[in-house]
Order: sequence, then structure tokens, then C-alpha cells
Amino acid sequence: MIGTLRIQGGEPLRGEVTVRGAKNLVPKAMVAALLGSTPSTLRSVPEIKDVKVVTDLLSLHGVTVSKAPETGDLELDPTNAAAALHADIDAHSGDSRIPILLCGPLLHAIGEAFIPDLGGCKIGDRPIDFHLKVLREFGAEVDKLPSGIRMTAPKGLHGAKIDLPYPSVGATEQVLLTATRAEGNTELRGAATEPEIMDLIAILQKMGAIITVQTDRVIHIEGVPELSGYNHRALPDRIEAASWGSAALATGGDIFVRGAQQADMMAYLNTFRKIGGGLDITDEGIRFYHPGGKLNSLIVETNVHPGFMTDWQQPLVVALTQADGVSIVHETVYENRFGFTGALNEMGASIQLHRECLGSVPCRFGQRNFLHSAVISGPTPLHGADINIPDLRGGFSHLIAALAAQGDSLVSGVELINRGYERFVQKLEGLGARFEVVAEVAE
Ligand code: EPZ
Repeated sequence: MIGTLRIQGGEPLRGEVTVRGAKNLVPKAMVAALLGSTPSTLRSVPEIKDVKVVTDLLSLHGVTVSKAPETGDLELDPTNAAAALHADIDAHSGDSRIPILLCGPLLHAIGEAFIPDLGGCKIGDRPIDFHLKVLREFGAEVDKLPSGIRMTAPKGLHGAKIDLPYPSVGATEQVLLTATRAEGNTELRGAATEPEIMDLIAILQKMGAIITVQTDRVIHIEGVPELSGYNHRALPDRIEAASWGSAALATGGDIFVRGAQQADMMAYLNTFRKIGGGLDITDEGIRFYHPGGKLNSLIVETNVHPGFMTDWQQPLVVALTQADGVSIVHETVYENRFGFTGALNEMGASIQLHRECLGSVPCRFGQRNFLHSAVISGPTPLHGADINIPDLRGGFSHLIAALAAQGDSLVSGVELINRGYERFVQKLEGLGARFEVVAEVAE
């Protein structure tokens, strides 16, 4: 796998890319297959590391995962699900947070679950307190071991009345994956309603679950004793689509993202247009282009759906370094998601971080010691630099910055991007990016 690239910047990205199944849905859909008494088929599965991590974890638990060679579709057969050795789980959990979502389905399937210490991007503390709280409310017994957390459900799992303190995507998924086969009804208040959540609910409904999504973030689930397998085509990755949109803006380019779905990206499209980007929205996908001339600075506040998604801000910040005037990004979902801006400043950007909530509403991180607001002054020409990629989305923004900069950049840690962007090196090549592979790393 590619580890380091030498990028010759200054070339606009032009052409077409295709986005397939969403990184933040596909692994959860794979875990949901554990709940079925018959095999499931999942289509539009991207070749990304998170899918490999979950494939390994499910295989460890006796699930047979087979991949169709020509389409990449997965068939998941849970009929021989069994407990796995904790040490093996630990070895396979990689830098993913998905193991926490196996708990509910494993407790239903085999009566126990083990979570090693979790990975995921270093963009904040990434606690799992909401997850443990809801699992206990379903009747799970949670034991903290030196190597991780072990759960059992000696009396089975029963429905619960749950109030989430924050519309957490993961905790909402935890409730959905646990409540569908629990005894009795569950009421979830304060639920996340992201498109990936709705797609997971569609999958569970196909399996036989009875889930009602009400207004104001309330979801009712009627527990059923058995679920069948599903056959589902994962929704397209709106984060990857927006990442290419920001890449088009930052490099002065023109990219058609085949498969991008307008309905899932409304907040991003409004922001893209306000900056001065050009859009052609079609049934087959969305064309994102820089129309020439100046870009407008603006204020962006990330939020839970249907707000401007936190995973969209990193690549957009690179485009904002080329906008005229002072822009502000107030990150209200994660407390520490501007680490990537250091490298941009070394390339000539002018980004200052602040502890204050520089947006319309004070958020959970106000008056605490988190640099969660960014002030970006532009336009600032970017020049090449040596960059070490910190995390998935910040890493993609470093790639965009190197492509937008004048001169060469040496970008290492590129393998991190493989977690969430399928075949991105080939896509960059197809868009006319100029680079050479300097070093490979083991798969
Ligand atoms: C999911 O993470 C996504 N990851 C994230 O995408 C995405 O940014 C996030 O949702 C928000 O949309 C996957 O789906 C694999 P959360 P998740 O629970 O579920 C706090 C990417 O780059 N919280 O909604 O972990 C948490 O600290 C990744 O694709 C608790 O306090 O996010 C954060 O401040 C990055 N306790 C907030 O809630 C908990 O038990 C939102 O987290 C759980 C979360």
C-alpha cells in the first residue's frame, strides 16, 4: 500500500470520480447481518480498510463473509456465529471504532461481547459512555477488564426508555442494533438522524424490524424475536463526495462526482454555492467546479444532521484559505478537530485557532480548553511542504493542499486515507494530479 507521495502541486483537478457505499454505513450494515437468522447481501461496498477490519472481526466470530469477485458485493452468513478469543479481537480491531457496535448483535447472537480499547481518528476523546449506558439499560452486564470491556446478558436483553444527552451517531446505532431483537419496546429520545442512520433503519426494516422515526429525534422500536437477512445497496458516501467538491474549489478545478446524492448534501451544497463554487446537480451525480474569479469568505458552523457535517469541514478549510477575506469555522461536534491546520499554515495559510465559540450558538466546548473555532484569512498562496498526515479527513485536506500549492510536497502517512477513500490514488491520477510514489507500507 502507498505510504508516501511526492506531489507536484499547482495543477487543477479535472475529470470524473465515482463514489460508492458510505464508509459510515457499510461497516454497520455488516454488523447488522449478525442479527439475521439467514444470510445477508450488501451491495456497493467500497474497498476501504474499515470494511476489511469489520470483515476480520465478523469472521473471528464465525460469520462467513464472501466477496463477489466482479462486483465486490458481500454475502454475510451469520448462522455459525460464536464467541471469539479476546486476544484475537484485540489484534483485529485495528484503528476502527466499529467493535463497540458489535455488542448488541453479539449479545443477541451468542450472549457475550468483548471490546478492546478502541481506535479511530484522534479528533477528540472519543468516549463510549453513551454506548455503555444504553447497553446497561437494555440489561447487559458490563465488566471492565485490563484488556478491554466484556459484556454478558444473563437474563437476555429487554426494551428500554433511553434519552441520549447528545444526538450521537454511534450511540443511536447501538440502540437500533440492540433494540430490534430485545424483549418489548424501546423509546429513544435525542436520536441522531443522519442519512447513514436512516439507511441502517431501512436495512433493519428489510430484516423484519419495526422502527418508527418520529419528529424531534424520537425513535420507537418494537422488539421482535427473529430477524431475517437483508439484500441492500448502501447509500453513496456524501463525505467523499464533498471532499472532491472542496478539492475542485481549492485547486481551481472541475470534478463530476458520479453517485453523489443531492438530498444527503443540502447543507454542503448551500455552503459551496455561497463560497462562489459552481454546481451542476443531475440524477447521475454532481459537478463541482471553480468558475474562475474570487471565492467568498464565510462563516461555517458544523452540527449534527441536517446541519453542516463535521467531516465536511477539513477539506473545505483548504478552499477557504483561497477565499477573499476572513472566514470562520466553528466546530461543535468534536473538541479537537483542527489539528490538521498546522501543516496548512506551514504551507502559507493563515489560520488561527480559538477557544471561544465563534458562531451563532455556544456549544458544549465553550469556556473549556478546546481550540474548536478557526479563523482563516485569505487568499494566501500555498507552497509545497513536507507533511505527515494526522488522520483520515485531515489527511485528505493535506492532499488537497499539496495539490493546490505551488511546488512539490512530500506527503507521508497516505495509507491512513485508505480507511475512508476507496482507490483515491487512482482517482487522483484520473483527475490529472501530478505525483510519484516515494514509499510503500505493508497492508
Ligand atoms: C460517527 O462517529 C462517524 N464515524 C464520524 O465520522 C462522524 O464525524 C460522527 O459520527 C458525527 O457525524 C463513523 O460512523 C464510523 P458520535 P461517532 O457518537 O459515532 C460524543 C469520519 O471521519 N460522544 O456522533 O463516533 C463524541 O465525543 C468519522 O468518517 C460521547 O461523548 O460520533 C463527539 O463529541 C470521524 N460519548 C459527539 O458525541 C459517546 O459515548 C459525536 O460523536 C459517544 C459519542
